Amino acid sequence: MDKKFKRTLVTCALPYANGPVHIGHLAGVYVPADIYVRYLRMRGEDVLYVCGSDEHGVPITIKARQQGCSPQDIVDKYHSIIDGSFKALGINFDIYGRTSSKVHEANASEFFKKLYDEGKFISRESEQYYDPEAKTFLADRYIVGTCPKCGAEGAYGDQCEKCGATLSPEELINPKSKLSGAEPVRKKTTHWYLPLDRYEPWLREWILEGHKEWRPNVYGQVKSWLDGGLQPRAVTRDLDWGVPVPIEGAEGKVLYVWFDAPIGYISNTIELLPNDWEKWWKSEDTKLVHFIGKDNIVFHCIVFPAMLKAYGGYVLPENVPANEFLNLEGDKISTSRNWAVWAHEYVRDFPGQEDALRYVLTANAPETKDNDFSWKDFQTRNNSELVAIFGNFVNRAVVLTHKYFGGKVPACGELAGIDREVLDGVPELRASLEKNIENYKFREALKDAMGIARLGNKYISDTEPWKVAKTDMERCATILNISLQLCADLAIAFEPFTPFATARLRKMLGIELGWDMLGGNAIIPEGHMIGEAELLFTKIEDEQIQAQLDRLEKIRAEREAAEKAEAAKQVIPQKEECSFEDFEKMDIRTATVLEAERVPKTDKLLKLTIDTGIDKRVIVSGIAEYYSPEDMVGKQICILANLKPRTIRGIESHGMILMAKQGDGKMRFITPQDAVANGAVVG
Ligand code: 2FM
Ligand code: ZN
Repeated sequence: MDKKFKRTLVTCALPYANGPVHIGHLAGVYVPADIYVRYLRMRGEDVLYVCGSDEHGVPITIKARQQGCSPQDIVDKYHSIIDGSFKALGINFDIYGRTSSKVHEANASEFFKKLYDEGKFISRESEQYYDPEAKTFLADRYIVGTCPKCGAEGAYGDQCEKCGATLSPEELINPKSKLSGAEPVRKKTTHWYLPLDRYEPWLREWILEGHKEWRPNVYGQVKSWLDGGLQPRAVTRDLDWGVPVPIEGAEGKVLYVWFDAPIGYISNTIELLPNDWEKWWKSEDTKLVHFIGKDNIVFHCIVFPAMLKAYGGYVLPENVPANEFLNLEGDKISTSRNWAVWAHEYVRDFPGQEDALRYVLTANAPETKDNDFSWKDFQTRNNSELVAIFGNFVNRAVVLTHKYFGGKVPACGELAGIDREVLDGVPELRASLEKNIENYKFREALKDAMGIARLGNKYISDTEPWKVAKTDMERCATILNISLQLCADLAIAFEPFTPFATARLRKMLGIELGWDMLGGNAIIPEGHMIGEAELLFTKIEDEQIQAQLDRLEKIRAEREAAEKAEAAKQVIPQKEECSFEDFEKMDIRTATVLEAERVPKTDKLLKLTIDTGIDKRVIVSGIAEYYSPEDMVGKQICILANLKPRTIRGIESHGMILMAKQGDGKMRFITPQDAVANGAVVG
């Protein structure tokens, strides 16, 4: 570790307790943090590993209302699910706290109060939306209406979930309160703001000059925020769920969730170490590292540091290794659309295969760009890397040691060139692995660890100790001795990545291992008895993968059906006014389809020959998606007869078939209720 520091405080973004965590969260934040912490601990560093549930904010109140329970019920439920998933995946925080705790309420209140008393906030009166029936201010999420961009109903005051547009409540067409259905009105309210603009010069110096080593995605995002100019940010809200604003006259107001959540890191430390927490937060020799996803960059690199700076005495993050996003089977992971692999379901469906997920999420981590998780890739990586290389090598080394030497580590004799090559390969990989982890390059670090398994697997295949045993037991002993040293290397190098497997491997080898032993020539001494072979990894079967793909397919199909049904309900907006004269110009008549055929090489067009009562003519119509030629022949329809002829795909079309078209594009032709003569005028 850097000489400047004596200890490392690692925080992981506090997950919102309004849903379970999914693989995107794991890959983005928790697995990399866990690798980092396990590595530092192996190296004997003093580390504190802090996380907890983020239990405030509007989405939790909305969920509670939808489910007819209290916000506390919601957060109790998800806090326990999330906590359980982390533990099941070997992510063992020193504390997994919660922001609804008393300790946090006291700490966040104190934090706010000190800044307030020292005049670090500005207060501002502004107009906010208010529900006159429910008699409460409305967060943007509580206002719904028609999206001005795509016309979807039920768009929120901050975002349309249909088209993804970022909105403000005033843009919504026909806005309504989600609470009472009443039309929101504007009402004056006072809030406190952290004047981030005052911290801008300091932030520029501290990050843009002082932390050029931060990941380019983090540095770049911070720079663009700073270049855009910082504005004061409200740190309070009109809401009844959260930490009450601890000043007189602020009844009905709480701290904004993004103000109290990062303070939660401190509160959780206080909860764990009530008498010793300050050393972790206020001592210059603590290295603070925040693990987060890219959507949290501004809060951890700008807002929270400004809060800490305003308070004074706190350490600032030394690094914020934020990841990009993970997609699932080519689609954005989404809690609201249930497009996710949920951590608690994974541990239920793949018992004993926790390491496989940790491994794949690291091998495929979205460190520099968004990445995709696919179940097939997951299966391949598990079966052809963990099982076929790492697991297979260890199994061969242990089984052969039992077979030829009764489980006793045989003596290492004279080294051949191939032995030296593998033995020299490990220290090189170790150096690279260390450098990569210390620079938050976990994907690369995993490749280094896997490099040791590849060396071992190749070594045992090339040297074939099972054949050598027939003629030269001394040579066989050397090969197996070296193989067992490599097994010990793997038990050390993989501990940060696949801790369940390395625990089994340590047990098999029957020795205590420390990081410093990695790459040594005699980690396991000659004569040491090893345990029986145990499988380190198990194959993931096609049926397991198919079950997951089927589940996703069902979700996708349900979603598409729901979207279609929703679109079908959408009413296409009325066109501009036209005059009676405009209408009169249109010659609409009844007609009968005589012949119909598809226009070659098109999906949508039918060529129809029709009897208009005036003449027989050809009309080309884009209805082939909805009607086959057989459906059309003999049907009476309505046409716009005097539309100027147009050539479509080389066919001259004389008029237009009138169709009723609904929001999802579905079309039906218009037919008189009872048969009338062709050429009857419609109007
Ligand atoms: O984005 C999120 O999931 C937030 N709940 C993260 C909060 S991190 C910290 F500030 F608490
Ligand atoms: Zn929209």
